[in-house]
Amino acid sequence: MVKKLNRWDFLEMKREGRQCVLVTAYDFPTASFAEQAGMDMILVGDSLGMVLLGYSSTVPVTMEECLILCRAVRRGAPDTWCIGDMPFMSYQVSAEQAVENAGRFIKDGDMDCVKLEGGVRMAGRIEAIRDAGILVMGHVGLTPQSSAALGGFKAQGRDAAGARAVIEDALAVEKAGAFSVMVEGVPREVTNFIAEKLRIPVYGTGAGHCDGQVQVVGDLLGLFESFTPKFAKKYADLAQVEIRAFQAYIDDVRHGRYPAEEHAYHVLKGEEEALKELFKEYA
Ligand code: KIV
Repeated sequence: MVKKLNRWDFLEMKREGRQCVLVTAYDFPTASFAEQAGMDMILVGDSLGMVLLGYSSTVPVTMEECLILCRAVRRGAPDTWCIGDMPFMSYQVSAEQAVENAGRFIKDGDMDCVKLEGGVRMAGRIEAIRDAGILVMGHVGLTPQSSAALGGFKAQGRDAAGARAVIEDALAVEKAGAFSVMVEGVPREVTNFIAEKLRIPVYGTGAGHCDGQVQVVGDLLGLFESFTPKFAKKYADLAQVEIRAFQAYIDDVRHGRYPAEEHAYHVLKGEEEALKELFKEYA
């Protein structure tokens, strides 16, 4: 029996210099495999819009889509810390909206905490959600929901002014009471500085070494073919495994090899004659 980790365990892991490993998942089987493999946390990321639903960005993702998939992930990984990623426009409008939707992730989605994008600008939202007793993971650096405002999916903090903005964002997230923060698409020197400065754990994706790493499952397993970020590492090529399996199935059916004898049901013993009579009736 592996004990389900909690916020204090993540803090201790940081203090002891132990890396925390996170992956995204959006469905029951993947969540179950991640838990069986010993993943520390699962993020039901809004990347589900691109990886699973085929949208061209994360912007169209809705609360309803997220909540259905959160519940599937929870059923697959009952003993793993799960993070519900708040979709675009589910927290930006007002503190009330942010608290209400964060609550839905906990009550309806069965998540352990929520994640939202933005630092200084979103500190008030983080505080409001925290005050409602809900744990928040921040997300700074490259924030895909506001990629249009950032001028595209571009690494952030690459010059001193940009680095200052990312550092200020991370500090604001910690001050607002988040229990951890994700840093995306930032030079490793900047991330290292943030990880050393903050008491809360700092998890990176495309941000070098810090207190842990996050990868999008579609990149890691080779299931998302449209685009692979520079920082993603592919550990399997499941797209090719699936395509080959589908081709073999098509070939078997077209050539009469499937279904074979071992895939067929048989008429109950003693029913053969009655069945012949039945067929005659319809002949
Ligand atoms: O939605 C997502 O998958 C993310 C990634 C940056 C890990 O937030």
